[in-house]
Amino acid sequence: MAGVFMRIGDWVSERAPGLGPMYRKHMTEYYAPKNFNLWYYFGSLALLVLVNQIVTGIFLTMNYNDSAAGAFASVEYIMRDVQWGWLIRYMHSTGASLFFVVVFLHMFRGLLYGSYQKPRELVWLLGMLIFLVLMAEAFMGYVLPWGNMSFWGAKVIISLFGTIPVIGGSLDEWIMGDYLPADATLNRFFALHVIALPIVLLLLVVLHLAALHEVGSNNPDGVDIKHGPKGNRWDALKPADGIPFHPYYTVKDLAGVGFFLLIAAFIIFFAPTFGGWFLEHDNFIPANNLVTPAQIKPVWYFTPFYAIVRMIPSMFGTAVWGVLAMFGAIAVLFLLPWLDGGKVRSFRYRGTGFKVALILFVLSFFGLAMIGTDLTDEIFPKVFGEHIDITLWDNVFGRVMTAIYFGYFVFLWAYTHLGWEKTKPVPERVTTHD
Ligand code: HEM
Repeated sequence: MAGVFMRIGDWVSERAPGLGPMYRKHMTEYYAPKNFNLWYYFGSLALLVLVNQIVTGIFLTMNYNDSAAGAFASVEYIMRDVQWGWLIRYMHSTGASLFFVVVFLHMFRGLLYGSYQKPRELVWLLGMLIFLVLMAEAFMGYVLPWGNMSFWGAKVIISLFGTIPVIGGSLDEWIMGDYLPADATLNRFFALHVIALPIVLLLLVVLHLAALHEVGSNNPDGVDIKHGPKGNRWDALKPADGIPFHPYYTVKDLAGVGFFLLIAAFIIFFAPTFGGWFLEHDNFIPANNLVTPAQIKPVWYFTPFYAIVRMIPSMFGTAVWGVLAMFGAIAVLFLLPWLDGGKVRSFRYRGTGFKVALILFVLSFFGLAMIGTDLTDEIFPKVFGEHIDITLWDNVFGRVMTAIYFGYFVFLWAYTHLGWEKTKPVPERVTTHD
């Protein structure tokens, strides 16, 4: 059998001699630092979920009907009549939420180890573009089942663009192709969701990895991997602190994949709506433009950003400030490589101020998510008594969280550019526990 594969390999490389070197550059001769930890699982897991979304999406498309009259019923048909349709749909809907879990952890790893710093700025920028496209992709996908939350969610999110002075109203109609989310909206969201955005996403992921492989991976110590003299037994020219991506990390990543699939399978088979967090209860009711859901709120992964819109009041007769702040919360992440002038990369060796600021930043993200999901409306009365004014408490808490979120970036700039940071000594070579 091995002989057959060899012969096929030889046949292909005679006709495409560039493929072998390309494979070696990105797999067997891509030297990744030998001290990767758990945080380094999430890149390959993001790839896995991306493939899952594309494959299950193709099968869903085979039975989905993208008309306002037929969309909801076609999803019910997939769930009840199509062979294994329920499984495909739940793999896709669970995959969407897990995609964001994985990508948020992947991004946090970047903050933790300074992976966005020189020379990996481009890797980070491409990652941020992926994040933007992923949000658009998820939003449009959520509209497709044409449940009541799809309809009202689309209406609220699209009307955010309506707050832009002068052009807002026309922009709103232009996006929807109607005065309300309707057939035209659904048709174009379907086209964008199944074709246009996935192509862009795939292209960006290829560029993201190509950019990473030009400069090499960062690692938990944030120091570059070095050649000799620790002695690389088989080749002194290869980095002694690095190991070939294949087979070492392909095998290690498989362990992460196994663990991840266990969690995913548990959710898909036992809790596919995840208590209304992954598939909201109101979305099991068909879209109805005359009945508004009791609370219109986006799926959990948008809530930190959505909460920011609600925390900024209308001023000078326009509500655009909240929308600007929401986009600003994402835009500022693009600037991170230039806002952070830190001399060391990894959390391990950074000053105490950085550590405290990063922890507060993460807490503010969770705090905003709590506001956006209306969890605070349940928690505050339990903690502080039924008599409290929930709107007031929400506003105070949400504004403090918003200030901490943006404050992180301001602080990071001042802390690193004005020379306040006192870092710890960084090791010469990457450290391992072996
Ligand atoms: C579809 C989504 C994504 C996929 C499939 C993906 C894939 C990957 C893979 C396979 C790696 C190498 C393995 C690893 O370091 O974990 C990687 C590294 C990296 N990614 Fe992503 N990524 C995605 C989204 C993002 C986003 C949204 C960001 C941040 C804005 C980002 C930032 C980075 C950075 C900075 C690295 C280098 C990390 C280091 O060397 O320490 N990625 N990505």
